[in-house]
Amino acid sequence: SALPALIERLPKAELHLHIEGSLEPELIFALAQRNGVALPYASVEALRAAYAFTDLQSFLDIYYAGASVLLQEQDFFDMAWAYLLRAQADQVVRAELFFDPQTHTERGVPFEVVIRGLHRACRQAQASLGVSADLILCFLRHLSEEEALATLQQALPYRDLFIGVGLDSAERGHPPEKFARVFAQARALGLHVVAHAGEEGPPAYVWSALDVLQVERIDHGVRSVEDPALMDRLAAQGVPLTVCPLSNLKLCVVRDLADHPLPTLLAAGLKATINADDPAYFGGYLNDNWRATFAALPQLGPAQAYALARHSLEATFAPPEVQAAWV
Ligand code: ADE
Ligand code: ZN
Repeated sequence: SALPALIERLPKAELHLHIEGSLEPELIFALAQRNGVALPYASVEALRAAYAFTDLQSFLDIYYAGASVLLQEQDFFDMAWAYLLRAQADQVVRAELFFDPQTHTERGVPFEVVIRGLHRACRQAQASLGVSADLILCFLRHLSEEEALATLQQALPYRDLFIGVGLDSAERGHPPEKFARVFAQARALGLHVVAHAGEEGPPAYVWSALDVLQVERIDHGVRSVEDPALMDRLAAQGVPLTVCPLSNLKLCVVRDLADHPLPTLLAAGLKATINADDPAYFGGYLNDNWRATFAALPQLGPAQAYALARHSLEATFAPPEVQAAWV
């Protein structure tokens, strides 16, 4: 059928992409060598073989270990540039990249080194790839709100180099309301606000991300299907959901892609989108996610492909003059 060709050529936005999750084993080894960092794996193959996850935490442990090779501004640039080249090949016209500063500042890497390297890659993508790219600073929810507040303070001198804040890492036991004050501060600064909710955590976390954090998008949100009143709210309010099918499969949020709730979300009128989350760890970039999802779910056809691409472009935080180029 023409569906795979349609998927390839549709312009789309990627709204849920952890830049540290785009770090391929080959680049991890190259950066380890360049920086003199010792890795507990003998080879690229041995590292990739360790990518067998049972839940979110089993992934996070290896994902934070992989990020330990990032030390210099050029390392952050190289990582983001490799992703943005890959995104361009998937017809991504807009990418909003999550980054986890606390993963790096905890290891003694200055915040400025992280954000300057990432931001330079975003600017170069706009100039030479025609990909509009911006950064969203994520707080690690397994750490305290005091640490998140300190991270926001550290980021203030670079306020113009990122467009919003998010919330990621271990969801269970760390509800959105734990971060009420830091999100209120971020909103007062005019930053966009998003949060991971309803990935492993219950629908109650989606409610509190909306009501307490007042987020503009929900990252994942797939467990919303368990709560009909929440589904009605998300549909009525037009809240975008940044869904990550291969991530959900690899982290055992769903047993099989054929069981994925994406068709249910779309049929209920939710503004769902497809995203890669951590492509180097979950076996695929954006179009790989699209292809695998459409192949596994016969309910998804051309109408759903157009809707998903349109949702992604409508859900971006790109300035209106940038959005005008997509219509
Ligand atoms: N950090 C990177 N990927 C994540 C995910 N899928 N959920 C929570 N935190 C993350
Ligand atoms: Zn994520």
